[in-house]
Amino acid sequence: MAMSVSLLSTAAVATIACLLLPNLLLYLLRYYSQDQSLKGNHQVADVNDENSASVSQEPDVSEGWWTSEQHLALEKRALFSKAWIQTAHVSSFPKSGAYVSVNTPAGYPIFLVKGKDDVIRAFHNVCRHRAYTITTKPTGSSLVLGCRYHGWSYDTKGKLVKAPKFENVPGFDKEANSLFEVKCVTNGSGLVLVNLDFEESAPEPPLLEWLGVTSTMTVQDKWEVEGAFNWKLAESASCFDITAVDSAPASVFAALHLAYWSSSYRHSQELLLSHVVSSSRSGAALLLDITPLSAGKCNVSCTLLSSQKSTMEPDSINKTKSEVTASVMELERIYQDIKVTGATMDVQGQQTILADVVKHAKAERAAGKKMYPATRQDAVSATCKIADEICSELEAGAASSACGTATASSLAW
Ligand code: FES
Repeated sequence: MAMSVSLLSTAAVATIACLLLPNLLLYLLRYYSQDQSLKGNHQVADVNDENSASVSQEPDVSEGWWTSEQHLALEKRALFSKAWIQTAHVSSFPKSGAYVSVNTPAGYPIFLVKGKDDVIRAFHNVCRHRAYTITTKPTGSSLVLGCRYHGWSYDTKGKLVKAPKFENVPGFDKEANSLFEVKCVTNGSGLVLVNLDFEESAPEPPLLEWLGVTSTMTVQDKWEVEGAFNWKLAESASCFDITAVDSAPASVFAALHLAYWSSSYRHSQELLLSHVVSSSRSGAALLLDITPLSAGKCNVSCTLLSSQKSTMEPDSINKTKSEVTASVMELERIYQDIKVTGATMDVQGQQTILADVVKHAKAERAAGKKMYPATRQDAVSATCKIADEICSELEAGAASSACGTATASSLAW
């Protein structure tokens, strides 16, 4: 009985989904065709409007789902700025002050840093003075994070600890000029997730305890693969079945210890833009994090982890790399087919993405403007602007001791 109710429920959900999908598609089509107030003259600015003046032609709506830069810009606002994104494994932070710079899929650079309290925090990689980049290297270690331009420096909790020439400016408040923190959690598997949404109502982070990844694993290898495909094609559990991860471990001890285990290969795609492949037999796990570079190009960042008692044979690592490359080539082939044949939504996992995109598009239409959940309007505070103006006046009067005269090299760290 319970099973029949379950089957009925499944059938009902499937029927409702089939009925709703055309309406959602229609809404999206209307969003493009009616949104002249946002687009203007059939041209639309890219998501990085703040940083770039690039403008693209309005795309062919029927193909936009897979190929439109405009649609990718909407997806950055609607999805990547709100979702929990996998950024690193805890083993990338061996000591306090260790940091990792990340270019998020939403287009916002952030960095993650481990504090003296062993908590990993994330911040927008933007100085509160004049918005220059704080960490310029992919990884590094420092308990004081200094901006190279005018010497402002921050601690590992993002607090402004030094602001040369601003210390005595009336009304300047150090407390009000901390780095913008990004929601960040390290889950039980040792995966560090971030959510760029500034809203308090952002969803709770997923636990992801069943992925076969542990916090004691260490990085065995890291590499990147670039592929010509749309990121949504990789939102399917059927891609990236990397079976070489299941290869027997190199250590004889580990091989004997694990000889009685049957293979426990897992492939999970629980988070947007991320796949996790793991095997209890080999004690290895592969993290695959996808960053869209454009509507038709993605970067796949690969992190191969291993448990302390087992390391993979070089041959198995090479096979793993070959399988990842082959999977990317298959995605490229499917993408080319879609571009030629015009195939549309008949790909696994697209309905959920569509529903979230449509929901955000509706909110933008109601607001009459584009909405950027990851952007703070007060990126440079009013007080700081006033203080900067005062500083500039001082600078004009005493060039040799001016605010901005410190050279990059003298302040680099
Ligand atoms: S921009 Fe960072 S100190 Fe001026």
